Amino acid sequence: MKILLSGACGFVGANLARAFVDAGHQVTGFDNFIRPGSETNRAELKRLSVSLVHADLRAASDIDALPVADWVIDAAANPSVLAGVDGKTSSRQLIEHNLFGTINLLEYCKRHRAGFTLLSTSRVYSIGPLASLEVDVVNSAFRPSLEAQSKVKGLTSAGMNESFATTAPISLYGSTKLASEALALEYGETFDFPVFINRCGVLAGAGQFGRADQGIFAYWINSYLARRPLRYIGFGGHGYQVRDCLHPKDLFILLEKQFSRPKICVNDRLINVSGGVASAFSLKQLSDWCAQRFGEHPVASDPAPRAFDIPWIVLDSTKAARIWGWQPQTTVLDVLEEIASHAKQNPAWLDLSAPL
Ligand SMILES: NC(=O)c1ccc[n+]([C@@H]2O[C@H](COP(=O)([O-])OP(=O)(O)OC[C@H]3O[C@@H](n4cnc5c(N)ncnc54)[C@H](O)[C@@H]3O)[C@@H](O)[C@H]2O)c1
Repeated sequence: MKILLSGACGFVGANLARAFVDAGHQVTGFDNFIRPGSETNRAELKRLSVSLVHADLRAASDIDALPVADWVIDAAANPSVLAGVDGKTSSRQLIEHNLFGTINLLEYCKRHRAGFTLLSTSRVYSIGPLASLEVDVVNSAFRPSLEAQSKVKGLTSAGMNESFATTAPISLYGSTKLASEALALEYGETFDFPVFINRCGVLAGAGQFGRADQGIFAYWINSYLARRPLRYIGFGGHGYQVRDCLHPKDLFILLEKQFSRPKICVNDRLINVSGGVASAFSLKQLSDWCAQRFGEHPVASDPAPRAFDIPWIVLDSTKAARIWGWQPQTTVLDVLEEIASHAKQNPAWLDLSAPL
């Protein structure tokens, strides 16, 4: 199969490029190298015979010049929940990257009758019910109370499923993805090409360009090892906030299954993809894990709340399991160990993407 991968030199893109090449597929990848650190993947991908092109998703003429593919995977985005509001990127820039870029790829798919896969996000789910979620603390980690599970639509002990609310506010980042989802499904139905929307929880693994607002597992482990200042922000400053995590190689397993069965009904095209409750970890638990691995390092407490912060996000991937027989293979401890080994081998890693 011929795969076209946007954001090929990003964390997820590079992992998928390696996996698809290993599985015998022909991969063309493009990137505009806007993400600090993405240059580091260029040489290795070339060595693996990925055909790499310098192109910008926002420029329709760049996309027009790309070779024909069977499947497009959109892994280029500004993936920060703070993008467009943090003063570093404008809201217009965010929308140009994340939404207009998707439209350029959809036009490409329409022209070449290629399939399209969007890597969407748990951030399409409403902030309101998540921010006000009633939680218990269990083993230094938040968990929705039983009462919350019975009251909030789409919430069960397995996490948030696809019926969880997606009404605003969901962050500008989340809304660019939600709008991309709607357009992708519409283009697929109107112009008759297969579309898959994979709403991913946190993706994590070695080589991620960690920042506090994106790539939290890599950021925390690298920072802890490097003895950089760390803070538990919000929620009383205890670090009980929880995220799930999934290794991109498990995403690859799912994509291969999807590409082999493009003709499924439209209702099955949108799914959650995550490590689920089995992978859920709080910051405090992550610090405890780091302390065991690297020795103690103090973490400061900053109880003041921050915009878009949520105490607990865990996606329920039951639908993906039902449709695709898919289950993550890589445990959260494997993911953490992989990041830690990489961090030890690359002591200056954070300087690439999170300079002090
Ligand atoms: N990492 C996660 O936890 C996570 C979770 C859910 C969804 N996603 C989605 O997965 C995708 C990949 O995320 P990631 O973690 O690899 O991010 P990343 O920042 O590591 O990689 C994104 C890559 O896209 C490139 N890029 C950005 N704008 C571009 C443009 N206009 N044209 C061409 N290239 C451009 C960047 O240079 C970078 O190499 C994103 O769409 C993101 O929204 C990621």
